[in-house]
Amino acid sequence: MTDPADRVRVSLGARSYDVLVSEGLISDAGAHIAPLLARPRAAIITDEGVAPHHLGPLQDALSREGIAAEALILPAGEATKSWDTLGRAAEWLLSRNIERRDMVIALGGGVIGDLAGFAAAILRRGVRFVQIPTTLLAQVDSSVGGKTGINASHGKNLLGAFHQPSLVLADITALGTLPQRDFLAGYGEVVKYGLLGDADFFDWLEANGPLLRGDPALLRQAVARSVAMKAAIVARDETEQGERALLNLGHTFCHALEAATGYSDRLLHGEGVAIGCALAFDLSARMGLCAQEDPSRVSAHLAQMDMKASLRDIPGDLPDNARLIELMGQDKKVVDGRLRFVLARGIGAAFLSDDVQRSDLLATLKAAR
Ligand code: GLY
Repeated sequence: MTDPADRVRVSLGARSYDVLVSEGLISDAGAHIAPLLARPRAAIITDEGVAPHHLGPLQDALSREGIAAEALILPAGEATKSWDTLGRAAEWLLSRNIERRDMVIALGGGVIGDLAGFAAAILRRGVRFVQIPTTLLAQVDSSVGGKTGINASHGKNLLGAFHQPSLVLADITALGTLPQRDFLAGYGEVVKYGLLGDADFFDWLEANGPLLRGDPALLRQAVARSVAMKAAIVARDETEQGERALLNLGHTFCHALEAATGYSDRLLHGEGVAIGCALAFDLSARMGLCAQEDPSRVSAHLAQMDMKASLRDIPGDLPDNARLIELMGQDKKVVDGRLRFVLARGIGAAFLSDDVQRSDLLATLKAAR
């Protein structure tokens, strides 16, 4: 066993579970998963990008505990979050006789976690699953909190279910193989936590952000602190009736930018979140809600990390501002046709608002070009 892991509890009554954050968790996965099993069987869903690095070590770790675990290896990429692949995964699980008391293991980034979690949610009306997130974005965000789903022709994540995992193993060692661009995209979600609710964490990131990649102890702290914040919010508002929507800081802008760039390689989700956070702070300052120095600090930190921070950092042409605002109107958070934004009264002080004037929004977009 490696050092004792950081253990974050997601407290949801009978659906409570732990998120373990540490190095070497995939190599110890059998010991962590065995106590959850009624019989020594599990089924792994992963993808072609992750399997060469992590599937062998995971299967070895499970087999050391006597757990048999076959794997389904799906194509990597957002297109995997589809009806077709969901059907394929569910039929495969049935063909392997995975029953309610068995365990599905999602090994991969956000796409695999969302898809495998949704397959587990609908299989026999609900089979338990373990998340083993292998990207920074999945470790700090998508693997925690039970949002599962796939994309529809009408938009991303429009089909899904809340289905909480039974355990999350966030193995910091797995982040070592991430390309730098994916690492920084995940870091966009880390910054989001500081900006939305923890000014001290943002101070800490300003001091330590550039060191994280080369320092597993610091990286582990950053992941554990992000997860702890998410766990607390999810425990208070599991199904996003209120506070959980704060986790969408930057996302109204981000979703419009992702749609405008065709969900392509031009903009990764976490990059869109980082730009969206910068825009949300700019908008908040324009509306007189926070000091002008706050958006400046956000942009300076993103620049310090060599991250995209503005519309002008997105390669290629973007539609005009009116079209971008139209795309924001297709966001899931629209209520009765009114756009909802997460705004801020300062760093670490986000709140929800549906009271944004179009003129302020246009000014923010114009300044970002
Ligand atoms: N990614 C936002 C949430 O889990 O609520």
